[in-house]
Amino acid sequence: MNNCAIGVFDSGLGGLTCVKELNRLIPNENIIYFGDTARIPYGTRSRQTILEYADQDIGFIKKHSVKLIIAACGTVSSVLGSDKSRAGEIPFTGVLLPAAKAACSVTENGRIGVIGTPATINSGAYEKAIKELRPDVSVFGNPCPLFVPLVEYGFTDKNDPITRLAVEKYLSPIKAEGVDVLILGCTHYPIIKDAIAEYMGDGVKLISPSGEAAKYAHALLAEKELLSDRSEKGKNVYYTSDSIELFEENAHAFLGDTIGGEVHKVGIDELISSV
Ligand code: DGL
Repeated sequence: MNNCAIGVFDSGLGGLTCVKELNRLIPNENIIYFGDTARIPYGTRSRQTILEYADQDIGFIKKHSVKLIIAACGTVSSVLGSDKSRAGEIPFTGVLLPAAKAACSVTENGRIGVIGTPATINSGAYEKAIKELRPDVSVFGNPCPLFVPLVEYGFTDKNDPITRLAVEKYLSPIKAEGVDVLILGCTHYPIIKDAIAEYMGDGVKLISPSGEAAKYAHALLAEKELLSDRSEKGKNVYYTSDSIELFEENAHAFLGDTIGGEVHKVGIDELISSV
């Protein structure tokens, strides 16, 4: 038993889709969340910069005596690949491997699509992980650079003409390959899953890496006998590197609920000195 918190971070608010799933699966756990809203997006930056930011984010989370760290960011997870060393002794997971495993287990025709930020797709990490699990499977990736700004600015209705156009532009090459599974490889994308699902059609299963990472975290904590024995509901505490007001205002769309916890500001200087 261990009543320390689970640490979760993302470049912004997308990782809250993972918090939402953790709160549903293991509601008695405490969660520390950091969203680097001052420096989002990560997905259009160089590998070097993303690694620097990831080290700072992990360093900041580690200051809070956590029992598990989740990189709830498709971009960081892809750039780190299978490297868990940055968290030191603390158990660590990204969203990539849990999502790759889920996709491999549900595909029937062996054709898997992956969408994500440019850094995620260009890293080739999803393709590598899937091929290691299932060498027989074909993977079709496409970067979707406009999806994060669409979500951030609230263009999330499936009937919004701008969203529909972007979905068609980015997904038509993948749809043409006849995939039966599509990995939403960025934690912002579940927010526009209705538009994506409608375009891809009923025969295509969507995989949310946030949901899969939450299930994986639950199983890992159980295996290590680290699940909390707290009988009451756990607390969520949030940290943001930009405006607290904006964080509180926008978090609802990702959590599907009121924020229900304190939000604190963390300065970039503090992040840099956390490494
Ligand atoms: N949530 C991040 C991801 O999963 C958002 C993308 C970004 O920072 O560019 O990749």
